[in-house]
Amino acid sequence: MLKIIALGGSNSTKSINKKLAVYAANQVANAEVTVVDLKELDLPMFGIDEEAIHGIPANANKLNRLIAATDGLIISLAEHNGCYSAAFKNAYDWLSRIDGKVWQNKPMLLMGTSPGARGAQTVLGIALAGFPRLGGNIVADFSFPSFGANFSDREGIINPQLKAVFDSKIESLVKAL
Ligand SMILES: Cc1cc2nc3c(=O)[nH]c(=O)nc-3n(C[C@H](O)[C@H](O)[C@H](O)COP(=O)(O)O)c2cc1C
Repeated sequence: MLKIIALGGSNSTKSINKKLAVYAANQVANAEVTVVDLKELDLPMFGIDEEAIHGIPANANKLNRLIAATDGLIISLAEHNGCYSAAFKNAYDWLSRIDGKVWQNKPMLLMGTSPGARGAQTVLGIALAGFPRLGGNIVADFSFPSFGANFSDREGIINPQLKAVFDSKIESLVKAL
């Protein structure tokens, strides 16, 4: 069995990015999927003083160990004001204090989605530029626009053109695992 982490870059209980990441992970054959929920992780806000006083939170260490044990990563980023959501950036900062190679060179499918037509392209650009410097091994990336119009909870991606591109991205990830 392949181990896959599905992570939505948002702490919203209704996160569309979590939905997309979990959907994508479920397209990988013979995969054992671990869903990382940033809300459940409940990390304190990173700060040098917080770290000095209380140390690295147990759940940040747990996430680091999960990444070490996985075969592949599927991350879908929420875009807040053209950047990472605060919850994602917080987890990212904590992880970087444990290991500078945050993503540990695990093959990654990097995605982003939004209700709007730009499909989180701005934050995706930031991650595409930045992740490789922190152990990111991005083997495919995918911007999924207008989530509400193109995704159904029952059927997944319902836009045939987008589904074809998405399938090719899953294939690229599977090849790299
Ligand atoms: C504070 C805030 C800022 C946002 N900024 C952007 C933005 O810059 N670009 C964008 O496409 N959507 C933006 N949105 C809308 C998000 O894309 C939308 O809330 C989306 O559902 C986030 O994904 P999630 O459901 O996985 O949390 C913003 C939403 C919030 C709450």
